[in-house]
Amino acid sequence: MVYISDHSLVKHYISVMRDRDTDTQTFRRMAGQVGMLLAAEALRDMPLYNVDVTTPVAEAKVPMLSGEPPVIVPVLRAGLGMTDGILQILPFAAVGHIGMYRNEETRGPQVYLTRLPDRIDGRLIIVPDPMLATGGSAVAAIDHIKSQGGNDIRFICIIAAPEGLDALTKAHPDVDIYIGCLDEKLNEDAYIVPGLGDAGDRIFGTM
Ligand code: PRP
Ligand code: URA
Repeated sequence: MVYISDHSLVKHYISVMRDRDTDTQTFRRMAGQVGMLLAAEALRDMPLYNVDVTTPVAEAKVPMLSGEPPVIVPVLRAGLGMTDGILQILPFAAVGHIGMYRNEETRGPQVYLTRLPDRIDGRLIIVPDPMLATGGSAVAAIDHIKSQGGNDIRFICIIAAPEGLDALTKAHPDVDIYIGCLDEKLNEDAYIVPGLGDAGDRIFGTM
């Protein structure tokens, strides 16, 4: 399943992020807020069970979340910029990490760190990464999560290129994908057009 947001707040925040004059502090805040809004959509069908509660007025049966806490696995670095926002609506989640950067010559992903909770099978896993460009990083990150037992994975990104979306849906057809905006194409350097530039550099101020 591919979901492309039609939320006005998501559209507005992404437009602010695209502006090359947006400063690091604002960019970082917007990345967290878009992450939160996309995660809310991705978590829409979390399982519930009914409990008894006494309100100030009456007895009632009310729904509460059931099951094990979800796991957030940001793709470092830039995925971390969305994680704070997601944790605001999911403060009880576990957080794993996959460190990966794009080799600018081969464009292929280089893994430099992996740390996941001991047991992830059967748990809802959210993988945030702001940019889905060629799809190489997302495919490799999800390959690793599956190799550790992950089997209920939802990928969320702020901007996707058609090329990356195609690669990810082909490699992992069982993974639901939540996108803030689907852009036009990749350029010859495999950057998303119009995009927002290098998301990691803009989140961490390393330009
Ligand atoms: C960016 C982005 C993705 C990747 C997308 O990370 O956060 O992980 O590029 O490109 P792809 O779809 O072609 O793989 P980057 O490699 O710049 O590392 P960083 O997050 O550490 O800045
Ligand atoms: N990574 C980014 O940060 N931006 C792009 O446009 C492509 C990959």
